[in-house]
Amino acid sequence: MTQDELKKATARAAVDYIAPKLDADSIVGVGTGSTANFFIDYLAEIKGQFDGTVASSDASAERLRSHGIPVYDLNSVDGIQCYVDGADEANPALQLIKGGGAALTREKIVAAVSSEFVCIADESKWVPLLGDFPLPVEVIPMARSLVARELVKLGGDPVYRQGVTTDNGNVILDVHNLKITEPKALEEAINNITGVVTNGIFALRPADILLLGTTSGVKTFT
Ligand code: 5RP
Repeated sequence: MTQDELKKATARAAVDYIAPKLDADSIVGVGTGSTANFFIDYLAEIKGQFDGTVASSDASAERLRSHGIPVYDLNSVDGIQCYVDGADEANPALQLIKGGGAALTREKIVAAVSSEFVCIADESKWVPLLGDFPLPVEVIPMARSLVARELVKLGGDPVYRQGVTTDNGNVILDVHNLKITEPKALEEAINNITGVVTNGIFALRPADILLLGTTSGVKTFT
């Protein structure tokens, strides 16, 4: 199977997983990226079974609307039943690295509000230890050099993601060569650097369930 076929299988599994939990008042949180895009396309098939969505990026909001699925501002909803999103890496504790698509801050906000976080990923994302994927950090533009120097002190090699501005008007530093043995502690340490908006470690609020697309089927981890 190709990587796209694995992504489609996990996206399909996510719709099958959440459908019985939804009712006419339900709000679904929707992530960003190629796996999330497949999820959006399948979600359209059951769009009459829930109220609407909150999207973690302008791109996902646009794709949802193109299917006729309502998209709400997070401030106008009382809660989110489940949030479905991809990941760049996932470990056995269901801690993640996210932000390859530069949407990490809104993704973290939607995850924080959601009762259940369903991660969907193909098997290439499954790792014993987080950190091979360069860790995205969203930074206020004027603090870019300051934050980069602080990230070097933490043992990383930050690289400015040229030409990318986030939906929040900020920039991304991708931090290479971090050994993330203590994901929660590093998530907090990086978030405490002045000028950092947030970083792509999802350990303080990990996924609740991972649907992993593998060549032998979609495996469920909780
Ligand atoms: C976007 C993300 C994505 O979930 C992550 O990059 C995975 O993307 P894809 O499904 O395309 O592999 O965090 O900010």
